[in-house]
Amino acid sequence: MALIDQFGRVVNYVRMSVTDRCDFRCVYCMAEDMTFLPKSSILTLEEIERIATAFVDLGVSKIRLTGGEPLIRNNVISLFQQLGKLDDLHDLVTTTNGSQLTTLAQPLRDAGVQRLNISLDSLNPERFKDLTRFGKLDTVLAGIDAAKDAGFKQIKLNSVIIKGRNDDEVLDLVNYAREKAIDISFIEEMPLGVITEHNRGESLCTSDEVRQIIEQEYELIPDTFKTAGPSRYYRFTNSDSRVGFISPHSHNFCGDCNRVRVTVEGRLLLCLGNEHSVDLREPLRNGCSDEELKAIIVDAMKIKPKSHEFDVHDEPQILRFMNTTGG
Ligand code: GTP
Ligand code: 5AD
Ligand code: SF4
Repeated sequence: MALIDQFGRVVNYVRMSVTDRCDFRCVYCMAEDMTFLPKSSILTLEEIERIATAFVDLGVSKIRLTGGEPLIRNNVISLFQQLGKLDDLHDLVTTTNGSQLTTLAQPLRDAGVQRLNISLDSLNPERFKDLTRFGKLDTVLAGIDAAKDAGFKQIKLNSVIIKGRNDDEVLDLVNYAREKAIDISFIEEMPLGVITEHNRGESLCTSDEVRQIIEQEYELIPDTFKTAGPSRYYRFTNSDSRVGFISPHSHNFCGDCNRVRVTVEGRLLLCLGNEHSVDLREPLRNGCSDEELKAIIVDAMKIKPKSHEFDVHDEPQILRFMNTTGG
């Protein structure tokens, strides 16, 4: 059975947030003082596993656990281990800020996680602190090394570039990825939640601008590598690293969207940039069967919208923050 929406798009990728909490407060993701959700409203690990299993039964082959910071949730490795046992789940992946990787990289790999995305926006310790508010660069760099040692099939850095804050570090970040023989994706900032740190309209650095900076130093060759994520990849002539661009503003990728999200409160969110959603938590807690759960998910595909509604120059229409949404 496959999940197909009214525009004929097949949904085979689910991003599930396992916590809204994070040990960082990145300026584009969270407000400085955040109120987090009460424990009773967030899904238990068992509920997350049940939803994930229902999706896999419905033809989903890729699940990404996200946050907040997924790796600070208590006992989260047991969830990875359970999902790692699902035969039809071909791609079990996660996106992390890297703060816990010195201890958790190997357990993740052993649980069956094949690819790892790690956020890294600066290689300058003070600036890293400014952008993440609480993060320590050294710990994250040590985590990246631990991930390399653990033998993941792909490690990808994610960098959100903001004009006037880290746009002068594009080449340094590329050179770091090349040195470590890992991939890097540059992400255009998305207007989720109300932030006060910078004016998103003025500070948006488009993928084309980032690419021009890289092309001052390197030739970029379009690459056919695909992950079922929104990155479009390029390679270099003389390196194993790839450079990806995630461009929700300048190159809308909604036409071939293959993914939905489940928030940590069990809301099935059909698009990152819209509010169309269906609650899965209540039926679960009211004792629905697996078949009933699957029927609700199949039905939800009817309301998956055609496209996101991001416009950085307007007041943000999407008031939820990225951390409750699952990145
Ligand atoms: P890969 O499997 O490595 O391709 O991962 P990914 O790029 O799908 O996941 P990752 O968690 O690394 O996300 C990188 C960025 O892409 C984040 O900022 C996500 O919010 C963004 N992203 C992923 N899917 C979508 C989408 O459907 N719409 C929008 N606007 N952004 C998305
Ligand atoms: N715009 C773009 N990317 C964001 N991320 C978090 N908030 C935003 C935003 N407002 C990125 C993080 C992480 C990924 C899951 O989402 O950098 O790499
Ligand atoms: Fe935490 Fe990731 Fe948000 Fe940064 S982007 S505050 S690391 S959830």
